Amino acid sequence: MTVMETDRLILRLLELSDLDEMMLIWGDQEVMKYCGNAGTREQEMKSLQYYINMQKTKGFSPYVVMLKESGEVVGVCGFNPPDHGCDSELMYHFKKEHWGNGYATEAAGACVNYAAKLESINVLGASIDPENTSSEKVLNKLGFYSVGEKWCEQSGQNEPYFLKEI
Ligand SMILES: CC(C)(COP(=O)(O)OP(=O)(O)OC[C@H]1O[C@@H](n2cnc3c(N)ncnc32)[C@H](O)[C@@H]1OP(=O)(O)O)[C@@H](O)C(=O)NCCC(=O)NCCS
Repeated sequence: MTVMETDRLILRLLELSDLDEMMLIWGDQEVMKYCGNAGTREQEMKSLQYYINMQKTKGFSPYVVMLKESGEVVGVCGFNPPDHGCDSELMYHFKKEHWGNGYATEAAGACVNYAAKLESINVLGASIDPENTSSEKVLNKLGFYSVGEKWCEQSGQNEPYFLKEI
């Protein structure tokens, strides 16, 4: 089911049948090196189940990002559970062959606008590995501001933390 549309992209609900496509993203070490590393099929099936359930209970979750023109899946973008004083953490993971086209900013921007319509999200957060400059650029373009650092269990380090009130 389509949740959002932009000029070039469709964002739709995740389904269990997306596992093969999600493994091209969550199973790719280069894509996931700053986000807790690549997962196995078993782990990512559990992630899919978790996110599908989260959508049902909270009304938001990460979404599959597809090109309008071809239907190709290019990434996953949307809402993670809350942490450190926000109502949800914004997430965006894209296949590496689709980096550098502005898709992440376009999809994440749509998610910020979508969150503004949800009563349950007033503050979005995001943490990034200090070396993940591409991700920091996306946050800057969307108007997130730095609020110091937070401990990240996944990476075992303090990471810069950003917020945006919507
Ligand atoms: C973080 C990530 C999503 C950023 O992807 P990205 O493609 O670099 O980001 P954008 O969508 O903003 O695209 C940016 C580039 O596209 C270029 N671009 C090309 N065509 C464009 C268009 N039509 N519109 C806008 N930008 C365009 C821009 O010049 C821009 O480059 P710049 O920021 O150096 O100026 C990607 O690197 C990724 O998936 N990384 C792995 C997962 C990850 O680290 N996620 C975040 C934290 S867990």
